[in-house]
Amino acid sequence: MKIIRSPKRLNQALFRARCQGKRIGFVPTMGSLHEGHLSLARRARKENDIVVVSIFVNPDQFGPREDFKRYPRDLKRDEALLKRVRVDYLLVPSSRSIYPKGFREFINPGPRARYLCGPKRPGHFRGVATVVNRLFTIVQPQAAYFGLKDYQQAKVIEDMVQRFALPVRIKTCPIVRESDGLAMSSRNRYLSKKERILARGLYQSLLEARRVIQSGHRSVSRIKRVVRGRLLNDVSKIDYVEMVDPESCAPVKRITKRPVLVAIACFIGTTRLIDNLLVKG
Ligand code: PAF
Repeated sequence: MKIIRSPKRLNQALFRARCQGKRIGFVPTMGSLHEGHLSLARRARKENDIVVVSIFVNPDQFGPREDFKRYPRDLKRDEALLKRVRVDYLLVPSSRSIYPKGFREFINPGPRARYLCGPKRPGHFRGVATVVNRLFTIVQPQAAYFGLKDYQQAKVIEDMVQRFALPVRIKTCPIVRESDGLAMSSRNRYLSKKERILARGLYQSLLEARRVIQSGHRSVSRIKRVVRGRLLNDVSKIDYVEMVDPESCAPVKRITKRPVLVAIACFIGTTRLIDNLLVKG
C-alpha cells in the first residue's frame, strides 16, 4: 500500500491505471477505522482493480461546538488495518490541499439535507458534499463506497452525483453492528464503560419501532412516543426520532405499506450517536 499525501501525486500515480482502463474503487473516510469501514474497503477490493482509501478529518463538516479537535486520530493503526485489506493507495491529504487558500466553491447539499441531521447540524452536509466532491475530482473513481449508518449522507451524495452528472457509481453497504446491536462508529470510542452499555438502547429502540409498525400501528406520532419512551430509559438527550421516506429523507405523515426509514439521533453523555433501520410497512 502506498501512502500519499499530495493529491497531485495520487493523480499522477493513478494516470497510468486509468489509461489501461483499470477500474478504480474509492472509500473516503475520516480515519479511526473500524469493521464498518473495512467492510467498505473489502467490497471495493472485490469489485475494482485499484482501491483508494482517503483519511481526512474534514474541519468543514463539524460545527463550532462539535468534536473536530477531539475526533479520534490513529494513522498508524489505520495503515495496518488497510494493508490487511490490500488497499493500493492511502491518501492522507493536508487541509491546504483540499481547501486551497481562498477556496469558495462550496457545494449545495440539496434537498435531502433539509431533514434529520440537516437542521440539527447546520453546515454539516454542505461540508460533506464539498469534501466528497473535491475527493472525487482528485481520485476520479468509477465507484465510491458509503456505509448506511450515515444513511442520509449516502442519499445526499447520491443526489449530488446526479445533479452534477458525476461519472461515479455510489455503492451503499449495510451497517456493521457490534454483537449487542450497537452500530459501529468511530465516536463509540468516546463512551465510558457505563455509557457503552446504555448505547445498546439505540438499536433496541429501532427494533421496538419495527415491532410496533409491523404489528399494524399506522400513527407516526404514536410510534414516535413509544420509541422515545424506550430510548429515554438509556439516553440523556434525544436529538430526533423520525420516520422518513427512504428516498427523499422527508418525514412521512402516516405509515403505509411502503418501506419507511426509522432514524434516531441522541446523546449518551456528551456523545452524539445516530442509527437507523429500514422497516417494511
Ligand atoms: O462518513 C465520513 O466519514 C465522512 O463524512 C466522509 C464521507 C469521509 C466525508 O468527510
